[in-house]
Amino acid sequence: MFIDTHCHLSKRDYNDISNVIEENKKAGVEKIIISACTREDLDETIEIINAFSPVYATIGYHPEEADKIIDIDLQRLESLLLTNKIVGIGEIGLDYHYSTENKEKQKELFEKQLALAEKYNLPVVIHTREATNDTITILKKYKVKGIIHCFSGSYETACQYIKMGYLLGIGGVITFKNSHLKDTIKKLNLENIVLETDSPYLSPVPYRGKINTSKNIPIIAEFIASKLNLDTNIIANKTTKNALSLFTKLQ
Ligand code: NI
Repeated sequence: MFIDTHCHLSKRDYNDISNVIEENKKAGVEKIIISACTREDLDETIEIINAFSPVYATIGYHPEEADKIIDIDLQRLESLLLTNKIVGIGEIGLDYHYSTENKEKQKELFEKQLALAEKYNLPVVIHTREATNDTITILKKYKVKGIIHCFSGSYETACQYIKMGYLLGIGGVITFKNSHLKDTIKKLNLENIVLETDSPYLSPVPYRGKINTSKNIPIIAEFIASKLNLDTNIIANKTTKNALSLFTKLQ
């Protein structure tokens, strides 16, 4: 059995969500965790987790939302955290790729959500882009566990996150021609890895550029298995175990 620890599922991207879930099941992807990242995502996310048993969610405000989110949004987020199938907070973090002008706002939003994670003892899914140092500095201030989503950094950076107790979310990027992750993964321990698609984005080779879904998780697992000379089942079992022990609300 596989778990997709991070993806997005919305009528915006898929015509027939029940068909997507059916295809995931056929591919052995039995549980998926979708991430609501905006104020607008919240209602649809709750609707989807209520309608489909294999679907769980993390909820949080993405750093790109930093200029929009106000106190009432954070109160709404907090009020939903004890909901049954909401298993963590995310994706949250820092993104300096498009703009560094609102760095302070991003940091403030990030910290407020980490404080909620600490308060409710919930794992976090971290989005960090061109902001590794600030991300590490801030994470060190909070006693939380979680996943560094779409990890694509160096071995040294991986070690820093692992030392802090974080898991690395590995997705389709590892299959890309120029990705150095395929070398980094050989030095990492499988204890520290979970699988994710980040669908509808980042389809693995050979589907790069097409719409992604969680059914592509086995392609990522097979790719990792081939790099490590292991059976794909070992990758499936280990990463599923890691995901289940982090997300304790996942049943
Ligand atoms: Ni994402």
